[in-house]
Amino acid sequence: MQGELLVQGSKNAALPILAATLLGKGIFILHHCPRISDVEHMLELLEDAGCRVRWEGHMLIVDTRELCNYRVSGTGAGKMRSTVTLLGSILGRMHQVEIPYPGGCTIGKRPIDLHLRGLEQLGAVFEHQEHTLSGKAQILHGAQIYLDFPSVGATENVLLAAVLAEGTTVLHGAAMEPEIVELADFLRKMGADVHGDGTPVITIRGVKKLHAAEYIVPSDRIVAGTYLFGAVMTMGEVRLLHIPLSHLGKLPELLEQMGAVVEAEEDWIYVRMDRQCRSIPYVVTAPFPGFPTDLQSALMAALSTASGMSFIEEKIFEARFQIVEELRKMGASISSEESFALIDGDARLHGARVEAKELRGGAALIMAALAAEGETCISGMEYVCRGYENINEDLKNLGIMV
Ligand code: UD1
Repeated sequence: MQGELLVQGSKNAALPILAATLLGKGIFILHHCPRISDVEHMLELLEDAGCRVRWEGHMLIVDTRELCNYRVSGTGAGKMRSTVTLLGSILGRMHQVEIPYPGGCTIGKRPIDLHLRGLEQLGAVFEHQEHTLSGKAQILHGAQIYLDFPSVGATENVLLAAVLAEGTTVLHGAAMEPEIVELADFLRKMGADVHGDGTPVITIRGVKKLHAAEYIVPSDRIVAGTYLFGAVMTMGEVRLLHIPLSHLGKLPELLEQMGAVVEAEEDWIYVRMDRQCRSIPYVVTAPFPGFPTDLQSALMAALSTASGMSFIEEKIFEARFQIVEELRKMGASISSEESFALIDGDARLHGARVEAKELRGGAALIMAALAAEGETCISGMEYVCRGYENINEDLKNLGIMV
């Protein structure tokens, strides 16, 4: 893998920002928005609510002036986790909401109790039907909310519902992921009063009204991380552009530990690998700034080719080792039990027929295929399209014949 790439816009930043557009009346412009299937599904839901949407290249125009429907049910709703952020934004704007139960990748149970509890403390009441979830609020009012776990989705939902609530909300134990800061920045551009995002305590003073805004979606830190592991596995050299270094957390250090040469500035990173990867004795996934669960499979693929034993603990989702069986088909030596995986490196990966079972695992299999001898045939690419706009094109730009 060799070359330079402008990394696509971030899925996990764009989706809650799209939900946030419902809170204001006007014409929003989002630049560098990723054209991926999850964004298309979210747009269907916005259209269902009465918005008009239009693409101009990677610029997305969302007109929320005619919002008329608190009930959304687009065909993609059940396939996508981020549907859940519409709870906070539609409640915030219309005080009533009905959404299909959120779907998403099959990486674990993915409950939404923290989302609902937070919104209930702001004054919402929910009713559960077989396939839908509906909520109402006479008024939304500020509250002191304590999250038992720094859930990204629950933090987003509380933020979305609290910006138009009466009074002040203080969210304790909030998630600190870069996507939370992006959402708060966007809400501030709309006229919201939000402080403390990026720390565990966020203060939101409700305002009467929000207006339209223009925003540049940041590049996707998980897509960037995937390609950086790809470079490490193929003894390559890549420079990724327009990627905020602060979003990568401790990833650059980890790549150095694996033996890579890393250079980086505020918005680009260069990684070169001249030798076989070194193993990492222990990596645990954790909320930001810890190692992201979304990069765990790409790391596992890379470590299966490293010299020596590595150990990964997955602490966020309980079903995130589905890639193990597929990597084994390619010659990797990995044993896993519950949330632990032991990787006996030094494998010479070989081509095989494998199956992507979820988004991030699918992308990790593609990286493994690049490092493997012979041809690999990967089915289930529809999962990868949920988050990677055009992985073939990206790989071509990085010197790979796909
Ligand atoms: C998570 C990741 C996020 C990633 C996204 C997509 C973390 C902390 N979050 O966000 O970085 O981009 O998946 O893969 O890594 N939980 C509950 N009750 C709730 C909500 C969550 O128990 O109401 C639990 C989940 O089961 C899980 C953990 O909290 O174990 C993290 O969930 P959360 O951060 O909410 O997940 P996402 O928002 O999907």
